[in-house]
Amino acid sequence: MDPLATDFVHIGSILAGFHNNKAVKVRGWVHRSRTSGGLAFIVVRDSTGVLQCAVKKDAAGDKGFEDATSAFVESTIMLEGIVKEDKRAPGGFELAVEKVQLIGKGEPFPIAKDQSVEFLLDTRHLWLRSQRLTSIMKSRYLIMKYLREFFDSEGFWELAPPMITGAACEGGSTLFEMDYFGQKAYLTQSSQLYAEVFTTALEKVYVLAPSFRAEPSRTVRHLCEYWHLEPEMAFYDQKMNMELQEKMLVHVAQRMATNHADLLQSLGRDPDKLRKIKGPFKRMTYSDAVELAISRGANIKMGQDIGADEEALLTKDEDKPVFVTNFPKDIKAFYMREDPGNPGTVLNADVLAPEAHGEIIGGSERIWEYDELMARIAEQHLNPKDYYWYIDLRKYGPFPHSGFGLGIERLVKWMLGLDHIRDAIPFPRTINRLYP
Ligand code: 4AD
Ligand code: MG
Repeated sequence: MDPLATDFVHIGSILAGFHNNKAVKVRGWVHRSRTSGGLAFIVVRDSTGVLQCAVKKDAAGDKGFEDATSAFVESTIMLEGIVKEDKRAPGGFELAVEKVQLIGKGEPFPIAKDQSVEFLLDTRHLWLRSQRLTSIMKSRYLIMKYLREFFDSEGFWELAPPMITGAACEGGSTLFEMDYFGQKAYLTQSSQLYAEVFTTALEKVYVLAPSFRAEPSRTVRHLCEYWHLEPEMAFYDQKMNMELQEKMLVHVAQRMATNHADLLQSLGRDPDKLRKIKGPFKRMTYSDAVELAISRGANIKMGQDIGADEEALLTKDEDKPVFVTNFPKDIKAFYMREDPGNPGTVLNADVLAPEAHGEIIGGSERIWEYDELMARIAEQHLNPKDYYWYIDLRKYGPFPHSGFGLGIERLVKWMLGLDHIRDAIPFPRTINRLYP
């Protein structure tokens, strides 16, 4: 058998019943195996599923049987045989093998059962092939696909901002600094300011790119490098902005629940949790949220930022996302527009995901008038020179606009019901992890 031949079939199509009683060839990795006497069961995995293959010494020959029984977990193997429906086999089908050949035997696989979290992170490059991480990565892809599908259908353009920047977007404390040929530069914390530039030509735009945060904290929801979806819309106020976010989350949740219930179930996630996600979502102001959190035992004072603990108290009994609006102006970024109807607060909202997952989106209406922006830049002690290009947008054809940032891994964590954000990205970058 030639491993590069084009007549191999995928296990998924066997499990879907397309090859019953037919001769097929499969290739993949040994998931597990056991032998008793002249019969070996090799469970083989490819990108579409796992298949039990029964290798009889009589049928496969001495060399074939030797290849099958000497294979390690994760050895690469090719098998040829007849597909048989069999209720006892996982997936309901079994391959009655006639030919077996190892492609690459390799060495014994270092990951066995019950390894520590740290060991699995050290061997992440090997652990990514596990059933669980494979299902999570497929789900992550699908969630991103439905996000793009949504923005495409809403008439948005996707654009590419720089990742190396000269100025902060979200304040100095979480900047990764680097030397840019003698100048100070940073890995971008957010592409928002560039997304705002893009609106001047294309009106409705989004960026889907990494953002970097030097997060010294170890939490279940912070990464130092995460993927950030940042839509920005010309001629949108904050109300329209929130309605768009709601519609987007409903779209993705419904698509996942309807099209991928099996995948969700394989991860222990009840698809009904996502099927329930329908608008309208609850809206509460920052001050109501703080009061509610305090009444539930939170240790927070009015005027302080709402943190993970408060968010958990606010959302643990919710089954849909919640908007928290009108945060105090001084704890928020310089670009958020003050609410004329509620001075001292800004026209912003965080979206908190239910079941204690907490913040997944931060968004706002942007300051679009020159004087107002210059005043806020001065108030926050920023250097206008660093933002000359951003300020220019308020000089040449200014217009009301709004936008938001969605953390992809936070969304995946909620939608799949994961305990920790690190499993929502293939190679998590956290405070003490740079390898693999
Ligand atoms: O709330 P943030 O900091 O807002 C911004 O960066 C705005 N400029 C976005 C915009 O309006 N275009 O970040 C937005 C979202 C958060 O709600 C969260 O989902 C995610 O980015 N996020 C993180 N995700 C993982 N790890 C981190 N360290 C994150 N920091 C923020
Ligand atoms: Mg935020």
